[in-house]
Amino acid sequence: MEENVLSYSHVNIYQGKDLVLSDVSIDIGEGEFIYLIGKTGTGKSSLMKTIYGEVAIKEGDAKICGYDLKKLRRSDMPQLRRKLGIVLQDFQLLNDRNVHDNLDFVLKATGWKVKKKREERIDEVLTEVALPGMGDKMPFRLSGGEQQRLVIARALLNNPILFLADEPTGNLDPETSDDILKLLIRINREHNTSVLMATHNYQLIDRYPARIYSCANHSITLEKGIQRAV
Ligand SMILES: Nc1ncnc2c1ncn2[C@@H]1O[C@H](COP(=O)(O)OP(=O)(O)OP(=O)(O)O)[C@@H](O)[C@H]1O
Ligand SMILES: [Mg+2]
Repeated sequence: MEENVLSYSHVNIYQGKDLVLSDVSIDIGEGEFIYLIGKTGTGKSSLMKTIYGEVAIKEGDAKICGYDLKKLRRSDMPQLRRKLGIVLQDFQLLNDRNVHDNLDFVLKATGWKVKKKREERIDEVLTEVALPGMGDKMPFRLSGGEQQRLVIARALLNNPILFLADEPTGNLDPETSDDILKLLIRINREHNTSVLMATHNYQLIDRYPARIYSCANHSITLEKGIQRAV
């Protein structure tokens, strides 16, 4: 049997001393697309933060991409993060450098030593998110949707196994939101990348149904009755 990309069993998630989510047991299979819903403050981002090691897990079992989060050493963290494509609520683009250099910065930081290979990879991901030839533009001169696509391109650079998208359509108009979701679905299908997407956008969920985990009352449950995968 293939191993899950993510497997949490009886995990408690804290922010400081506050228990945000208790007894979390969730699985994400290889190539699965999953929505994470729940009102503001119910813990969606906190769950994501445990996955990329920003919030530590002290109670329960948590395995991600073959790593046991509780046994993870600090020195393992860069390796784990390379297997994750992370798209956060704020874009966190470097506004003092152009699109190309934003991507090159990540490649250099993750061990891509050969310039020619970096250039090829940058061209590939920009084409993949439909921003070809935009390397010279400054991020703040891009539209919101283009910035989000650049952030997705940046998250794609190291061919992640699991894509974490925290409200990737948060500030975008309906048409642009639809484009972003279609892009994530295409990445999911073409690369078999698992996707966990936190969202408040129920229209998109209706249009592109998939398995849904729902955060409420300090716990996470699987929404019943939804069978169809994206
Ligand atoms: N850095 C932090 N320190 C302390 N408490 C925090 C921190 N970040 C979040 N919290 C608290 O944890 C709880 C869950 O917040 P979280 O950001 O995970 O919610 P969310 O579901 O992502 O909300 P939203 O839909 O608004 O993004 C909230 O009560 C919040 O106040
Ligand atoms: Mg959040």
